[in-house]
Amino acid sequence: MCGIVGHVGDEQATPILLDGLRRLEYRGYDSAGLAVHGSNGIQIVRAVGKLRNLEKALAAKGLPGTVGIGHTRWATHGRPSEVNAHPHVAGPIAVVHNGIIENHLELRAELEANGFTLSSDTDTEIIAHLIHRETRAGHDMVTAIRRSLERVDGAYAIAVLSEKEPRRVVVAKSASPLVIGVAKGATYCASDIPALLPYTNEMLFLEDGEIAVLEADGFTLSTLQGTPLSRRLRRISWSPVMAERAGYKHFMLKEIFEQPRALEDTLRGRLDRELADVSTPEIGLSEDDAKRIQRVILLACGTSHHATIAGRYWLEELAKVPAITELASEFRGRDAVVGESDLVIAVSQSGETIDTLMAAKEAKERGAKVLAIANVNGSAIPRMADASFYTHAGPEIGVASTKCFMAQLANLLMFSIWLGRRRETIDEGLASELIEGLARVPHVIEERLPGTLEAVSEIVQDFSEARDVLFLGRGLSYPMALEGALKLKEISYVHAEGYAAGEMKHGPIALLDAHVPVIVLMPQDRHYERVSSNMQEARARAAKIIGVTTAGDTQGQALCDRFVEVGPTHEALSPFVTVVPLQLYAYCVADHKGTDVDQPRNLAKTVTVE
Ligand code: F6R
Repeated sequence: MCGIVGHVGDEQATPILLDGLRRLEYRGYDSAGLAVHGSNGIQIVRAVGKLRNLEKALAAKGLPGTVGIGHTRWATHGRPSEVNAHPHVAGPIAVVHNGIIENHLELRAELEANGFTLSSDTDTEIIAHLIHRETRAGHDMVTAIRRSLERVDGAYAIAVLSEKEPRRVVVAKSASPLVIGVAKGATYCASDIPALLPYTNEMLFLEDGEIAVLEADGFTLSTLQGTPLSRRLRRISWSPVMAERAGYKHFMLKEIFEQPRALEDTLRGRLDRELADVSTPEIGLSEDDAKRIQRVILLACGTSHHATIAGRYWLEELAKVPAITELASEFRGRDAVVGESDLVIAVSQSGETIDTLMAAKEAKERGAKVLAIANVNGSAIPRMADASFYTHAGPEIGVASTKCFMAQLANLLMFSIWLGRRRETIDEGLASELIEGLARVPHVIEERLPGTLEAVSEIVQDFSEARDVLFLGRGLSYPMALEGALKLKEISYVHAEGYAAGEMKHGPIALLDAHVPVIVLMPQDRHYERVSSNMQEARARAAKIIGVTTAGDTQGQALCDRFVEVGPTHEALSPFVTVVPLQLYAYCVADHKGTDVDQPRNLAKTVTVE
């Protein structure tokens, strides 16, 4: 978490750094700060709270200069306060950092014993002092950083300024992400691509153990041990407009409405209607590999984990392969059984989630082949995986994931069809029906989106005060129920539970009364009758039922107090349509309550801490 930016060029750095931080604010937003090298040396401005507080502080005290670094924070060590905000300064050195230094207590004690005075509670300040100590010993900035980082255990992406080398920003990374951007006469760095899009599309992703010296006319790259490196820049196809709100009240709403396009872009070129097959050369598996897979392990966190549960159901049904889902944080360090006959699919919007990255690495070390499903090209998980099958949802800025979830579902379904065809477990007729249906899904979603928003916002008027909400679904609707509950919790702070409808009677039914709305997903699938019975059970306890029903399903709608209609699809495609009203429900409750929809409290978009 946390976002860092840097700029070296001829233009004033402050507006560029602030603009970059604005685009990174989703990564953390409890304090922010800038350090700019001007004619009087390095000057710092920091402020607690959102970026607007930093902007106010900057309006009072300008920061002239063309070389600078900036930071937006998600607190890990030390509470949000001005003194704990970055940049941290020691002597001529200023540092911004994203990550966690694990041996910070030991290093702090050592520095204090050496006579250094630390003014914050952060682990980052230690890096600044280590570098300062090395420069005092006569080392140049790069050598001082190298020698300091040798002492550091943990995750970091850092950007460093030194008063002694005023036309440079030096960056280094281990585990946390860092992108360098190159334009004519200016070089930039940032934690994520959207911060750089207004300035350049030519980028380079720093790898672990690398250090780069940024200057106005480009950068030099080497390993932390000093071996020079050269790598080609990558051209990023996203446009700056993709990362703007485009007239929507919130990014989340915009991204919900972008789902048809995100799906189309993700499906494009991959559905072969004539052959009733999926074309995915990037998966990197031969026909023989596909037949040899004994088991698929799906690793992910949060919303991406919910996508993998649907993926598991599709893999089992269509490719007849045993599949399990694992929360990446639980897979790690428990000695899970995994080996060469397993295919691991690591699913992550950001491609940087540390738990997913480390869990997939662990599986790879034990011989499993790793396939990454990620949305950010060149991010850490695809880089470590054996092959990558990207989603093409475009940049997702709202902290609550929506369109990337939709695109993950598409990739998991396409992969299941692909595998089923190779393993000869899905016949051409069914594959063709699913491919035709999947190609139509963007339209099915799009035509109902405005009406669904209207219907949901009306329902929310009556239920926005509910303190607990239960989401129920069976089969493929079960992970969507989990996702609906997570969305509601994270942006509206309402307690919500997602449950397999059949499990309700094993516990949660005790919670039900007239004050607990129950949102039931009831597409017309093989579970329909049993879900109807579960609804009756909830109604008998006076709970109010909000149904997500297929258009025209009057029988199901008669069991509901309120209902929303979704377009008809093949039952295997129902998650694509049923999740949309749930996303909108969470959005409308949060908007009604006036919470910060795009930057909910305590959350960050990319979770690079364990
Ligand atoms: C919830 C949400 C998170 C992420 C989770 C994993 O809306 O976005 O639960 O899904 O932090 O992130 P990625 O997919 O980037 O690995």
